[in-house]
Amino acid sequence: MLKLGVLASGRGSNFQAILDAIRDGRLKAQVQVLITDNPQAYAIQRARAAGVEALFIDPKGFSSRDDFYVRIAEELRARGVELVLLAGFMRIVRRPLLEAFPMRVMNIHPALLPSFPGLHGQAQAAQYGVKISGCTVHFVDEGVDTGPVIIQAAVPVAPQDTEESLAERILALEHKIYPEAVRLFAEGRLRVEGRRVLIEGYQLPQGVLVNPPLTA
Ligand code: GRF
Repeated sequence: MLKLGVLASGRGSNFQAILDAIRDGRLKAQVQVLITDNPQAYAIQRARAAGVEALFIDPKGFSSRDDFYVRIAEELRARGVELVLLAGFMRIVRRPLLEAFPMRVMNIHPALLPSFPGLHGQAQAAQYGVKISGCTVHFVDEGVDTGPVIIQAAVPVAPQDTEESLAERILALEHKIYPEAVRLFAEGRLRVEGRRVLIEGYQLPQGVLVNPPLTA
């Protein structure tokens, strides 16, 4: 059984989607620990409700940012964690964690990377006026949302969309693709070659998507 560690700073709805997939038998994994940098994070309640250990690590308690990640890596390793999931973790992950878990840290981002990295990907997309946005699960590297892409899913964007309306549409898809990416990892079906993540058994969907749909 794949052992997961989750890092979250807030609401934790993606963490919940992982917990639900495990509970429903869609994902053969177990969450060993939730680590948070925010003692108020609602994710802590979700962990408790699921019987998962919740651990608050105060970033202010370290003399350097690297030391904070050394500690996180130690806590994860002590619990046998094999894959680390960032789920609304509002910090740039630094080298000590990435070196402890090479190509073993995933993140979910609410835009189609490399468009709209960083904060407020939904607002950036709505303001830019793109017709399609979506979400991306990727392996984490030292950049901001720059690591190899594992799965993406797209949603249409309407001119009247606000950050909130678009975020809601995207979030529903986040909750589908994050557990799916973890499942592919758990099944040993992901292989990273440079920037590309190859998915064993993947079939290219047929057809072309156009937004707005073409009229006859
Ligand atoms: C999500 O939009 C995710 O894509 C981004 O942060 C948000 C976290 O939401 N990285 P939640 O805490 O999982 O509800």
